[in-house]
Amino acid sequence: MILQRNNLPNINQISDEMSRVLGDYDATELRRFFVYYQQCQAGAKEFGTKLENLDSEFEMLENHNPIHHMETRMKAPQSLIRKLAKKGYDFSVDAVKQNIFDIAGVRVITNYLDDIETVEHALTKQSDVTLLKRKDYISHPKPSGYRSLHLVVSVPVFQANGPIEIPVEIQLRTVGMDMWASLEHKLRYKTDVDKHNVEQYASQLKGYSAELNQIETHMQDIFNHLQDS
Ligand code: GTP
Ligand code: MG
Repeated sequence: MILQRNNLPNINQISDEMSRVLGDYDATELRRFFVYYQQCQAGAKEFGTKLENLDSEFEMLENHNPIHHMETRMKAPQSLIRKLAKKGYDFSVDAVKQNIFDIAGVRVITNYLDDIETVEHALTKQSDVTLLKRKDYISHPKPSGYRSLHLVVSVPVFQANGPIEIPVEIQLRTVGMDMWASLEHKLRYKTDVDKHNVEQYASQLKGYSAELNQIETHMQDIFNHLQDS
């Protein structure tokens, strides 16, 4: 048996160590950041549970489960700092709260195209969920050919002092969209290949995304037809 432990930093120990090493170090901002980071992790767990509950409900009560699988991830603090700088902000907890909404991320991979809408509605109609942002890269794919539905939703996370609304980014995509995105990402960010060499395949990759969309549309049609018959 493997016992998994989340190795979360202990803020008091870090502050003490910083003061010891750096003299009169003010750890207030660092502390606020870790508190927020942990709250975001709690937000991801809330949505993870919501989606797992929906998954069980579909599995038990419906003859079709829209959810293929789910993934959750926390943005690494170093990529968060990089993203904030890229947007032109200095590091502060307020800047993080106002500009970065994907510290906690959940990806839902659905079976068919129509399943995306089913999951979106099942989630956003819940009374404690607030939709903050919606980007439909399925109706309007990115120039790369990337397709997915991106939502930023918030949920109250209950702390010892009461509730606080935490944003979580949810990416919804079919198995076909997911296949394309993960392979394209590997090609694009393969570190030992020159970026210009990848660029020559850009329109080809975009074409494959459109082909996959066609295939998934046809398979959706077959599914609908079999459901009706
Ligand atoms: P931010 O405020 O920077 O998050 O902007 P944004 O939310 O508008 O970013 P965007 O909607 O572009 O979503 C970013 C995420 O979508 C990335 O982390 C990837 O997971 C995914 N993504 C966006 N574009 C592509 C693409 O061309 N290829 C792949 N493989 N993934 C993409
Ligand atoms: Mg984003």
